Amino acid sequence: MGSGIAQVFAQAGYSVTLVDVAQEFIDRGLATIRQSTDRLVSKGRMSPEEQAALFARIHPSLSLEEAASADFILEAIIEDLAAKKKVFTTLDQVAPTETIFASNTSSISITQLAGATRRPERFIGMHFMNPVPVMKLVEVIRGLATSDETHSTVVALAEKLGKTPVTINDSPGFALNRLLIPMINEAIFLLQEGVAGTEEIDTVMTLGANHPMGPLALADLIGLDTCLAIMEVLHRELGDDKYRPCPLLRKMVAAGLLGRKTGRGFYQYE
Ligand code: CAA
Repeated sequence: MGSGIAQVFAQAGYSVTLVDVAQEFIDRGLATIRQSTDRLVSKGRMSPEEQAALFARIHPSLSLEEAASADFILEAIIEDLAAKKKVFTTLDQVAPTETIFASNTSSISITQLAGATRRPERFIGMHFMNPVPVMKLVEVIRGLATSDETHSTVVALAEKLGKTPVTINDSPGFALNRLLIPMINEAIFLLQEGVAGTEEIDTVMTLGANHPMGPLALADLIGLDTCLAIMEVLHRELGDDKYRPCPLLRKMVAAGLLGRKTGRGFYQYE
């Protein structure tokens, strides 16, 4: 999602330092932004000059230290508490104390992540949806110590990006994923139990509930590893067995069938 987030900030006129751990991920991110903005150019919604200016505002880097001069730092790495804490501990040492930190986590506690820094009042959740350039919603998640000033700054920032912010209190999965991911998990149970096939399950929800895509196609878009990580957080933190991850979901993740990003999930991709 990081590339989509970099795109919407650059599109809104902000200068962006795009940091990743390896050049191949940076190249992949830039290629995604190229593909996404090419669509806008071909539809006449962005001029080639605007596209060039957007790319000129994105500065790729392999060094977290280079992000330290930014006014606002948003983390969108893998859904792993220890990895996220490590990033924030490093950033906390190199960025000025007034810099606001945000996480795009889909389920991990904002209060807990904020606790890895010395600035919990300037720490907040800013949760974008996939595909980021298209989806209007941003969940703004207040941790226990998030200040009113940080909250209002980030709400205004989301609006400047053309998004609709909705404020949520810190709770496992926040609001969107507490609703959405258990639905996807239940769809995988239906498949596992042989109640219906992949396409039948998706058709039920597209034609029967007017969802733009079925739950299994959506799982492929989100990434099966992310879906599993979110179910595990819901299960562990809320302590209710209704959130147990479906064994078939676990199996598919173990097999490396993660959805669109690996070319195969519930569906096969080019
Ligand atoms: N980048 C940029 N633009 C894109 C895009 C992308 N990756 N994918 C689609 N678009 C644009 C298209 O260009 C098209 O634009 P116009 O209407 O302006 O011409 C528009 O989006 C619709 O796309 P398509 O016609 O190709 O296809 P579609 O109508 O089937 O829409 C979709 C595709 C937007 C993905 C739609 O199926 C959808 O909304 N699906 C549900 C997505 C969803 O639920 N996302 C939330 C996931 S949960 C999450 O992300 C949070 C988490 O923590 C897990």
